[in-house]
Amino acid sequence: MGVKRIEHLGLAVKDLSEADHVFEKILGSSYKTEEVESEGVATRFFKVGDSKVELLEASNPESPIAKFIEKNGEGLHHVAFEVDDIDAEMERLKGEGFRLIQEEAKDGADNKRICFLHPKDSKGLLIELCQEKG
Ligand code: CO
Repeated sequence: MGVKRIEHLGLAVKDLSEADHVFEKILGSSYKTEEVESEGVATRFFKVGDSKVELLEASNPESPIAKFIEKNGEGLHHVAFEVDDIDAEMERLKGEGFRLIQEEAKDGADNKRICFLHPKDSKGLLIELCQEKG
């Protein structure tokens, strides 16, 4: 299988700096803050051993994160699985009948190429596939 590990957990939050104060107490200081304009999000990352927590704040009202919070409130938004070859893994999962939210892998935060799978096909869990850019 192409999935190697849980790369990060993505949490939707209303206010990045307020959430930062909470997660700093649990995990220590964040190491990166990054705006992903194409997604309409501001992100902040914390290391957790070999994995990470990604906080996501909507940067505009049309952002998927704004819509998520409106519907579900703050909380777990997605789980990111690291893969070696994202294009191959997208093909493989498509062949297994999973719907991909993007047809092509796109640039994500933290130097990654990413793709989301439709949560209706995975028991409600929004899965992000990610591969470190070389
Ligand atoms: Co993510």
